[in-house]
Amino acid sequence: MSTKCSVMKFNTKTIHGNQEYDKAYGAVMPPIYQTTTYAQTTPGGHKGYEYSRSGNPTRTALENSFASIENGTHGLAFGSGLAAIDAVMKLLKPGDEVISTNDLYGGTYRLFTKIFEGFGIKFHFVGMENASKIESYVNKNTKLIWVETPTNPMMNIIDIKATAAVSKKHNILLAVDNTFATPYLQQPLNLGADIVMHSATKYLGGHSDVVMGALIVKDKELADRLYFIQNASGAVCGPQDSFLVLRGIKTLHIRMQRHCENGKAVAEYLKQHPKIENVYWPGFSDHPNHDIAKAQMKDFGGMVSFTTKGNNYKEAIKIVENLKIFTLAESLGGVESLAGHPASMTHASIPKEEREKIGVVDSLIRLSVGIEDEEDLIADLKQAIG
Ligand SMILES: Cc1ncc(COP(=O)(O)O)c(C=O)c1O
Repeated sequence: MSTKCSVMKFNTKTIHGNQEYDKAYGAVMPPIYQTTTYAQTTPGGHKGYEYSRSGNPTRTALENSFASIENGTHGLAFGSGLAAIDAVMKLLKPGDEVISTNDLYGGTYRLFTKIFEGFGIKFHFVGMENASKIESYVNKNTKLIWVETPTNPMMNIIDIKATAAVSKKHNILLAVDNTFATPYLQQPLNLGADIVMHSATKYLGGHSDVVMGALIVKDKELADRLYFIQNASGAVCGPQDSFLVLRGIKTLHIRMQRHCENGKAVAEYLKQHPKIENVYWPGFSDHPNHDIAKAQMKDFGGMVSFTTKGNNYKEAIKIVENLKIFTLAESLGGVESLAGHPASMTHASIPKEEREKIGVVDSLIRLSVGIEDEEDLIADLKQAIG
């Protein structure tokens, strides 16, 4: 069976998109080709694989699935989400400029400012809630717009279609970090983006057991440039991890459905809690970009952030320490609920005054709402917040 993805709907694609049964024995899941190299009959006489940095059949199966679920033509898998972003940045050269979301994952900010600024690339960190603001930062050196939506951890929503209009007008690449939304909720390539990036560590893998990154594009020339970087720089993932993420993707749609249901229940519970100041979740009608979220996303996801009245650092720490079902841990997007304190964890690499400007205040708590029973999650928050 060769399953061409264009004719399938999303849920079917997660399971079958661009997949083939194993040619040797008909195995339904691709074998884990735990091999470095491949026998050749004569120099160059091989079956499509020479060395596993350049390509591995298990990784190919996963990369084909990535392309399918994001409606792209080419997928590339990396050793981590940051390795995938690193590959995109290597499309640039000194003197080039990037316009980036100002409220973004701290590790991405660190990669941009601590590594690529040193190589002569200039970054403009811009609040993109209003896409018209982006254009004023465009000049002849601008080569890339980097968008994260929903943003981590403030859950801002950026209008991908409106941003794509700006990028197309000025012939700039548009890359979207789709980690929080996943293709279940939004498909940036359909909205005009050129590159979709994932920390596949999160919802795509879905079980908190692997670290991986992904890029998906719909243009062969861009894919070739990225394949060259993937092989030349070598930040690839192994076959076992490829297998795990491929398995994770097969249940992405049902997991996401439950993440969204539980996310809504948790957000609504927190919103009415007398000790809670702000709840950041794009499903609320008073969220500043709720209308854009409604238009570009199928639902509102399982990520919810909140602050407590009085904005007390110690009180926030106490809440995350008190949680019993939510595990205090870095990361997100797994089946289990996690809680994090961005100011001291994921966003500690952003200077305090910078992070506070974008809302990452001392009492901010970020929840990755899992797929447990909703009642248990709410009871846990109730006992932890008091
Ligand atoms: C939105 C977002 N992008 C990128 C990354 C980096 O991915 P990784 O940790 O797989 O390198 C993360 C990690 O938390 C993330 O949340």
